Amino acid sequence: MPYTVDEIRKKIENVIDPSTGESLKANDAIKHVGVDEEQSSVVCLIEIGVKNNEFSSQLTRNIAKIVKLELGYKSLVVDYEQARPKTMGKKMHILAIASGKGGVGKSTVTANLALAMTSMGKKVGIIDADIYGSNMPKIFDIENEELSGTEDGKIYPFKTRGLEIVSAEFMTESGKALMWRGPMLGKILKIFVSDTIWDQDLDFMLIDLPPGTGDVAMDVKNLIPDAKVLIVTTPHVSASHIAIKAGFAAAELKQEVIGVIENMSFLEINDEKHYVFGQGGGALVSEKLQVPLLSTIPIGQPTSGHHSLFADTELIGIMYLNLARKIIKSFSS
Ligand SMILES: Nc1ncnc2c1ncn2[C@@H]1O[C@H](COP(=O)(O)OP(=O)(O)OP(=O)(O)O)[C@@H](O)[C@H]1O
Ligand SMILES: [Mg+2]
Repeated sequence: MPYTVDEIRKKIENVIDPSTGESLKANDAIKHVGVDEEQSSVVCLIEIGVKNNEFSSQLTRNIAKIVKLELGYKSLVVDYEQARPKTMGKKMHILAIASGKGGVGKSTVTANLALAMTSMGKKVGIIDADIYGSNMPKIFDIENEELSGTEDGKIYPFKTRGLEIVSAEFMTESGKALMWRGPMLGKILKIFVSDTIWDQDLDFMLIDLPPGTGDVAMDVKNLIPDAKVLIVTTPHVSASHIAIKAGFAAAELKQEVIGVIENMSFLEINDEKHYVFGQGGGALVSEKLQVPLLSTIPIGQPTSGHHSLFADTELIGIMYLNLARKIIKSFSS
């Protein structure tokens, strides 16, 4: 002693993560090293492949052998974070679309944002995490499709319009409610995250969350700790009130909220705006959560013939392109 944090890091980076069999260095798993010479103590933050007590105590013991026995420090504290699953390549930005309240347009926004990103040259995947009310297949007119898989139980996402998509609907007999798979429910998100063969070059993964602020958001946090959140609301207080709760719930889980979208903001007839759902919901959520209001999307149906997807030649389609541009930029800065 004393050693610099870089020296300590170098000493411990060859320790093996017992949950993956790979070194901390190989997985770039050492997120922080701190040292207090006066107290003779070292603190580390490590991303572990599988976060459970058995693996983390084994790893702590092996790090302690170096920090305490070899380097001579008196105390060591190691904190663990679940690492992002390998199926989701390192460059992939992950964004969960949440609202709290149902029916405000999460799925419509997710699908159109994904398409807009694709037309800007990004590779995008969608996880339809609304297990009971999945409607991504309906939005993309692929509801009769089934997913193919490998012999060892992995699945391939469905490919359409340059996107990769998974949905519980692909795993049920088409149209039938998800009744027979009770025990599967908790596992299905994990299958979409960890047991799906995603293109490793995807730039963005969008996760269409179900309404509510509860379990699925928590599962997303546990499975993908670095997922960020985009909040959708309508102008009405009944929606913004719950959107704010969803935003605070995300913040409590230490998820970064990147912004808010106000959907169904107004109805425009003959150049006159009618605020049929009231006004101010998006601005209120933005103010309370201290995040930017990224877009205000009017009430309207696609005019190009599709029931849910806007062409990039119509006004709302152009708004989605602008939204995509802002989001892509926010991830690259
Ligand atoms: N800007 C809009 N103008 C008109 N209709 C819209 C708009 N956005 C969404 N819709 C329609 O509103 C309905 C609900 O939208 P959507 O399914 O996207 O909401 P959701 O938040 O995903 O709902 P759920 O909570 O049930 O998952 C759909 O019929 C959709 O086509
Ligand atoms: Mg939905």
